This record gives sequence, structure tokens and C-alpha cells, in this order.
Amino acid sequence: MKLIVINGPNLNLLGSREPEIYGVNSFESFYEELKKEFKNIELHYFQSNIEGEIIDKLHEVGFTFDGIILNAGAYTHTSVAIGDAVKAIKTPVIEVHISNVHSREDFRHVSYIAGNAKGVISGFGLQSYKLAIQSFL
Ligand code: DQA
Repeated sequence: MKLIVINGPNLNLLGSREPEIYGVNSFESFYEELKKEFKNIELHYFQSNIEGEIIDKLHEVGFTFDGIILNAGAYTHTSVAIGDAVKAIKTPVIEVHISNVHSREDFRHVSYIAGNAKGVISGFGLQSYKLAIQSFL
């Protein structure tokens, strides 16, 4: 099984960015844990702060991979283009958030991705990514 985690803007700063919301672990160290825990999965990881690069990556993997775990960060709430890309590809996408976006500001309650995703996982910290991976197994 071939899965990819795609992280959007500011998620490269996990560990130092608003730790009271996003925790103290970097994604890189968590990713090492994920690779150990899910040894049978071919797991890939991509992060970009650039909307178009996220869309390019969705196009690149979206016809051959078995699943995409997408945390588009703030683009979740603004990007019609990423929502359209998720709709345009064949690989199922799970939308993931570290925080519970529904307990935060109103603008975070909107998602341009959710309607085209297979499912949404929000609010379980970094465990949200694990739950998404498990949903593909
Ligand atoms: C986030 C929630 C978004 O609202 C925010 O802009 C992020 C991170 C999360 O994982 O909780 O960058 O996607």
C-alpha cells in the first residue's frame, strides 16, 4: 500500500509554532515514528507552503497512490483550487487537522476540501495522521 502525507503552509514549523495548539513535536520526528509503526506501508511525505506546489503534488500522486492524508493548513479554508484538485484525482483523500477546527474561529469551520474528501479527522493532535493511515488499512 502506497500512502502519502501532504502538509500545507506553516506545518513545517510544528514543534515551535503555537505549541499550546499544535504540540511540541516536529513533524519530522513524528514521521520517523509513523514509518516504524507502519512498516508494511510505503509511506511518503511532502510539505509545502505554496498552494500550486500542493496542487502539483496531488496531480502527481493522485492516480497511482492508494491514499492521501492531506493537512492543507489554512488553505483548507480558502483554496477552491485545492478543493478542485482533490475532486479531479482518483486517489481517496482524508482531510486531517491537528486541532479541532470546529472549536476554533468561525473561518476555520469552512473547508473547500471536506466535500471532496473520503473523510475528515480533526482534533486528535498528531494522532489524527495515525487515525487517517489506519482508515486506509
Ligand atoms: C490546521 C488547522 C488550520 O485551521 C490551520 O490554519 C493550520 C493547521 C490543523 O492541523 O489543526 O495551519 O490545519
